[in-house]
This record gives sequence, C-alpha cells and structure tokens, in this order.
Amino acid sequence: MTEHILVERKGDVQVVRFNRPDKKNAITRAMYAAMSAALSQGDADEEIRCHVFLGLPGAFSAGNDLGDFLAVATSGEGVNEVFDFLLTLARAEKPIVSGVDGIAVGIGTTLHLHCDLTFATPETVFHTPFTDLGLVPEAASSLLGPAVLGYQRAFALLALGEGLPAERAKAAGLIYDVVPAEALEERVIATAEAIAAKPPEAMRIARQLMRHPREPVLARIEEEAARFRDRLESDEAKAALFAFMDRRKKKS
Ligand code: COA
Repeated sequence: MTEHILVERKGDVQVVRFNRPDKKNAITRAMYAAMSAALSQGDADEEIRCHVFLGLPGAFSAGNDLGDFLAVATSGEGVNEVFDFLLTLARAEKPIVSGVDGIAVGIGTTLHLHCDLTFATPETVFHTPFTDLGLVPEAASSLLGPAVLGYQRAFALLALGEGLPAERAKAAGLIYDVVPAEALEERVIATAEAIAAKPPEAMRIARQLMRHPREPVLARIEEEAARFRDRLESDEAKAALFAFMDRRKKKS
C-alpha cells in the first residue's frame, strides 16, 4: 500500500483519491496497484454502490510517473501494474464518478472514458502528450476516444496532443459538467450518493447495457499495451523521457 492513494468510504460510496501533491499526482506503480485493489474490493463489497475518483486542488493527475517509465524503458522490465489497473477499470461493475481540477494528463484524462459521470472545474485542461513522448494512446482510448468524441476531436487530443479545456471537453462529451472549484467535491459526492441510492441491480444492468461492449475494450487495452511496451524501448521514447528528467535536473 502507499500513502499516495487514499481510499475512503462515504456511506455507500468508495472514494479513491490521488495524494502525491509534490509530484502533481504523477502515478507510480505502487499507486496503480493500490487503485486496482481498491476498485476490486469496492466491486466485491455489497455495501459499496458507486466508485469515485478525485485528485487534489489544482492537480487531478500528471499521468504516469515518467521516472517509472524511464526505468522500464532502460531495464526492459514490464509495467504490469499499469495494465492490470486498466483492465480492472474496464471490468468494473459499479458506476464510477470522477471530479477533476487543474492538471489532467495521460491516464489523468483517459481514465474518464471509463467513468459514467465526470465533473471538472473551469481551470481543468485535459492533455495526452503520448506521441510527444514517443508513446501511443492507452486505456482503450484509441477505441473509446473516437467513439465518445468523434474521430477528429479524438485525434487532436490523443495523437496531436492538443489540450482540451473543460468547457470544450463538455461540449465534446468527454465530461458531463463544469463546476466551480469550490463546489466540485460536493457535486461529485452528491452525484455518487444519488447513484448509490438507486436499486443496485437495475443500475448495474443499465450501465452494462449502455457502456461500450466490454470485450473489444479489453482486447484494445491488450493491443495498446503491446504497442506501448515496444514504444517504451524506442529511441523516440527514451529521448523524450531523458529530456523530461534533464529538465528536472536543470530546475534544481
Ligand atoms: N512523472 C514524474 N514526475 C512528474 C510528473 C510525471 N508525469 N509530472 C510532474 N512531475 C514532477 C516534476 O518533475 C516536479 O518534480 P520536482 O519538483 O522534483 O522537480 C513536480 O512533479 C512538479 O512538476 P512541475 O513540472 O514543476 O509542475 P508544473 O505545474 O510546472 O507542470 C505538468 C505540471 C504536469 C504540466 C508537468 O510537470 C508535466 O508536463 N509533467 C509530465 C506529464 C506527462 O507527460 N505525463 C505522462 C503522460 S503519459
């Protein structure tokens, strides 16, 4: 377990919160493992009826920890915790609500394609610099992105790496609503509680009927993972990851 993921229960709702403020909630392998465990436990617990993902003021998440990626790129180790989490997320049985303020990079953006309702503050910008890092989209975003946003908006976000501010994300259908920062968490929890108050089996089936069929999503996560692993060892990715680390050294 890690102190960088906080799991809290509010009645019938389980809240998973990113809590690594000094690194803008960049997600380490230990954090992915903790999130997978929380999702699985919440799904298995009959008293939990809705999952919530939250970050901190100003930072939902800066995405995958790039130091971890660099370690993987240079050691040839796997990044199993990442892909285990993505599969667990795609298999989740209970509704997921998320609340986002500020930085939402990489998985900090693609996660919401697996959520049922996402709220973001006006200060939020969604951003996936995959290709700039020599990498490719993950979390089945190459499938769900075009389905949710339309192909060209998905291409601009996921391949071109253009930032998508909250209001445009709402218009594009990536998120449900834009909420002032001071009201964000209250709105997210109230929405999760409203979901939790519904008959759970009807809610589970309604969600299952409405979501993109699961098998193609799981297959796409696996396909992307294979490409992603190859890309991590590419010269393009290594150059981008070393450049990020150098930028940090120059700052200090
Ligand atoms: N992995 C590891 N560390 C990260 C990180 C990441 N993804 N994102 C931020 N950090 C660290 C920074 O290195 C810095 O650490 P330091 O204080 O020890 O130097 C700290 O978090 C604060 O980041 P900083 O860059 O100073 O904050 P900022 O507000 O100026 O910029 C970001 C925030 C998110 C725009 C910028 O940090 C960034 O671009 N990060 C990389 C995002 C990314 O590419 N994620 C992977 C997507 S697949």
